[in-house]
Amino acid sequence: MANIVIIGTQWGDEGKGKIVDLLAERADVVVRFQGGNNAGHTLVINGKQFVFHLIPSGTLQKKTCMIGNGVVVDPAVLLEELEQLADAGVSVSPEQLRISDKAHLIMPYHKVIDLARESKKDACKIGTTGRGIGPAYEDKASRCGIRFAELLDETLFAERVRGVLEEKNFYLEQYFSLPTIDPEDVIEEYRRYAETLAPFVADVPVELEAVAAAGKQILFEGAQGTHLDIDHGTYPYVTSSSTVAGNACCGAGVGPKRITGVIGIVKAYTTRVGMGPFPSELLDETGDYLQEKGAEFGATTGRRRRCGWLDMVLLNNAARLNGMTGVAITKLDVLGGLEELKICTAYECNGKHTAAFPANLRMLEGCTPVYETLPGWAEDISGARALKDLPEATRNYLNRIEELAGLPIDIVSVGPERGQTIVTRNPFEE
Ligand code: IMP
Repeated sequence: MANIVIIGTQWGDEGKGKIVDLLAERADVVVRFQGGNNAGHTLVINGKQFVFHLIPSGTLQKKTCMIGNGVVVDPAVLLEELEQLADAGVSVSPEQLRISDKAHLIMPYHKVIDLARESKKDACKIGTTGRGIGPAYEDKASRCGIRFAELLDETLFAERVRGVLEEKNFYLEQYFSLPTIDPEDVIEEYRRYAETLAPFVADVPVELEAVAAAGKQILFEGAQGTHLDIDHGTYPYVTSSSTVAGNACCGAGVGPKRITGVIGIVKAYTTRVGMGPFPSELLDETGDYLQEKGAEFGATTGRRRRCGWLDMVLLNNAARLNGMTGVAITKLDVLGGLEELKICTAYECNGKHTAAFPANLRMLEGCTPVYETLPGWAEDISGARALKDLPEATRNYLNRIEELAGLPIDIVSVGPERGQTIVTRNPFEE
């Protein structure tokens, strides 16, 4: 019996959705434990593209999917995704999708505040996705958030919305000079969501414990990446939740002893959307090549992703923070056609080489990458289904990553389709 956590090792967009989809085949339950609809998982199945923001990727595998207490949920987005799936012939029943009664709701004022902050000229811009994620987590921490448990209690919900909006409206009007929000409109809008979503709301930790006790397998689906973690990332250019594997326990409601493995997803190069330091960023034609060949546009906002070489300082930091037991390399095919490849093995900061990830952003911004150069390959590798099918230069690149990370590469993705994958070890089959 295995319970596996999947996390991103870089700044998100590592291609976790495809790996979750692949591993979900062997799992009984897939659970999301943090983030919200700032995430975007693009899956290509039989040539058809699906983009999910909230629903765990395992839905397409007809698995039981759960949204844990650590997730912030925009109910309008959730309903839209359910409708999109139904239109594509994948209907999701309440037995198949369980939403924690302790998950917090993203409210209309969260979105307005997020966007207003980002557009205020003198504000400290983060380049957020504008989905209200930060303001929703802020309210959770300041204990004026509203959860599914309250949503299902009409009177309590109305009281909470009226109370919270007193303060939010003052802030919107006085600080941003924006129109206020009528609590009665919000109450009416969310009453309709409550009616549809009530059957899906559950005590997720109790249900997960029953699943684990029955010897079934759980896949914990992380969103974003380790370096967007609120504590361990490039603060303040981070998201507002904890994205590391340890939060799978807290954000889903299971004890740490239940976790048996952690697979870190590593894009074969590095990308980042939004602001913040990025030591191995390529601002030249190689960066453009990766951006274009890898179709590096944000799945949620459509923004162009910044691209750079693989950074082992990031990867090793992620390996330690998450207790990674294995690695999945994604988008390896994108590197094909480059004469040589570089791997950042350390940073040079103030004239000294360091393999540590500095917390001080000024220092990090002043660091330059120390590179090791490897030969590239010209062949199209998207048809490879085993390591032996890969050119020698590709195998050398993978071997070097294994060596530098001190971890096995379990999975290699060589194209967007489910079948374009090399699996050397399935963590659910140990
Ligand atoms: P927020 O999560 O919308 O508050 O955005 C904070 C930072 O995290 C911004 O730099 C976003 O671009 C980034 N971010 C949030 N979600 C994702 C994701 O799923 N992939 C990549 N970056 C993300």
